[in-house]
Amino acid sequence: MKLNLFNYKSEVVDALQYNFSLREKEQIFFSLISHFGSISKVDFLISSSNEVSEKLEKDILNAIGKLNQGIPLQHITQIGYFRDLELFVNENVLIPRPETEELVSLVLEELSSHAKVLDLGTGSGCISLSIKSEFPEAIITGIDLSEKALEVAKQNGQKLDLDVSFLHLSMTEKLTQLGMFDILISNPPYIGKEEEKELDDNVVLHEPHMALFSDTEDPLYFYKLIYERALDNLVDGGFLFLELHENYSESTKQIFITNEFKDVEILTDLQGKLRFLKAQKA
Ligand SMILES: C[S@@+](CC[C@H](N)C(=O)[O-])C[C@H]1O[C@@H](n2cnc3c(N)ncnc32)[C@H](O)[C@@H]1O
Repeated sequence: MKLNLFNYKSEVVDALQYNFSLREKEQIFFSLISHFGSISKVDFLISSSNEVSEKLEKDILNAIGKLNQGIPLQHITQIGYFRDLELFVNENVLIPRPETEELVSLVLEELSSHAKVLDLGTGSGCISLSIKSEFPEAIITGIDLSEKALEVAKQNGQKLDLDVSFLHLSMTEKLTQLGMFDILISNPPYIGKEEEKELDDNVVLHEPHMALFSDTEDPLYFYKLIYERALDNLVDGGFLFLELHENYSESTKQIFITNEFKDVEILTDLQGKLRFLKAQKA
């Protein structure tokens, strides 16, 4: 007997066994029918008695198998949503997170139209590309140590027709050749290796460790490097915006409490976690 979309939803929700809440399972169902069948939530609501095609059933069955092994939905669809952008993502980049969308909102409040912006550890290019799409006159550079991540960022820039310079450089090195910037922004790797066991398997097994963990014992390693980069590459009066680990917000702040910076503040994300640092170069 052929299934209609309404009954199919319950079947998919039942078949999803990985650690998902009911709400997540329903969201996954809608993402899957949209991705594989071009059926939107509204289409579903107005035509839930429509039959499910064999092709859609087969594609979704395949996807459920992967989801149940912990493979992230974004790796199956190869799409990550970030603010207004639909980005290509794969296993070489961090899947863009909602907190980072909030970081971009903070930047946009201080951005003037022709500002020069440097994004340290650009990954998929999500931060750089969303700033460029909202401030087309801004001049944006994104750097990353991972060449494979940069391929993804460049592909996204081309697909979205957004002109951002993506460069293969490390924030461990001096970047004086890049000149001065009005805004420096970074979501660096900030998870300590000791926290690896607390993370979900689908993060640890499927997202690049270079994007998640600092290889050193020092949880503030990247923040100390960014402090150095800000001394060299941020104009006086320029702003620095960082995403950080809530457990280390105070110690991260202390790095920037020097004569070189003023108005160093820690800001919370929408979940009330101490998540961002904003500072102005003195
Ligand atoms: C937490 S991810 C953030 C990616 C992206 N900006 C985002 O918010 O989704 C950190 C990024 O820093 C990059 N990275 C790690 N070490 C680096 C280094 N020494 N220099 C530059 N980038 C580095 C990683 O490859 C990864 O893309």
